Amino acid sequence: MPAMMNPELFNELVRNRRSVFPDQFEIGKKADDEIIKEILVNATWAPNHGQQQPWQFTVFTGEGLKKMALFQSELYKQDSGEQFKQITYNKLQQNPLKASHIIAIGMKRTTTKNIPEIEDIEAVACAVQNIYLSVTAYGLGGYWTTGGVTYFEKAKSFFGLGEQDRLLGFFYIGQVAIPSAGATRLPMEEKVKWVKE
Ligand SMILES: Cc1cc2nc3c(=O)[nH]c(=O)nc-3n(C[C@H](O)[C@H](O)[C@H](O)COP(=O)(O)O)c2cc1C
Repeated sequence: MPAMMNPELFNELVRNRRSVFPDQFEIGKKADDEIIKEILVNATWAPNHGQQQPWQFTVFTGEGLKKMALFQSELYKQDSGEQFKQITYNKLQQNPLKASHIIAIGMKRTTTKNIPEIEDIEAVACAVQNIYLSVTAYGLGGYWTTGGVTYFEKAKSFFGLGEQDRLLGFFYIGQVAIPSAGATRLPMEEKVKWVKE
C-alpha cells in the first residue's frame, strides 16, 4: 500500500464517481492524450486470472472519432434489419463527435490456458472500473455504453478482434460541461449477508 493512500479520499472517489453522458460533455474541448494514456495504464493494472490480461483497447480521437461514427452508424443501418430505428442511427452518427476520446473495449479470449470465458470478461470489466475511477480522478467525465453495434459480429474486426473475442462496448470520455446529478444506492445491508458463527 503506498504511503500516500488515504482511505477516506478513496471512498469519496468511489462513491462520487458518476457516469457522465455525451450531452453533458463540453463539445470540442479535448482531454490531453497523455492523461488518456495514464488512464489506460491504470486499466491494465486490473486483476485478471492467469495473467492473461485479456483486454484490448482501441482509442479514437480527432478525425478518428468521425471514422468510428461512420463505421458504427453504417454497420447499424446494414445489419439491424427490422430493428432499425432512425433515432438510434442518428445517435450513432452524432454522439462520437461529442466526445474527446472513445475507447473501444475488447476482450481477447484466452486460448492458452483453461480459463472460463466469463473470467476473461470479468477481468475486462475490472479494467473498465479502473477507467471509470481514473476518469473521475482526472476531473473528466465518461461512461460505458453497450449500445449500438457492441454485440454485432461484424463489428469485431474493425476493433482488431477475432471470432473468439468479444466487443464489450465503448467508453466515452469528455470534458464535463454539465455534471451528473447525485445518485443513490440501496443500503449495503440489503445486499450483504454476514455469517459469523
Ligand atoms: C456493463 C455496462 C453497460 C452500460 N451500458 C450503458 C448503455 O448502453 N447506455 C447507457 O446510457 N449507460 C450504460 N451504462 C452506464 C449506466 O447507465 C450507469 O452506470 C448507471 O446509470 C449508473 O450510474 P452511475 O454510473 O453514475 O453510478 C452501462 C454500465 C455498465 C456497467
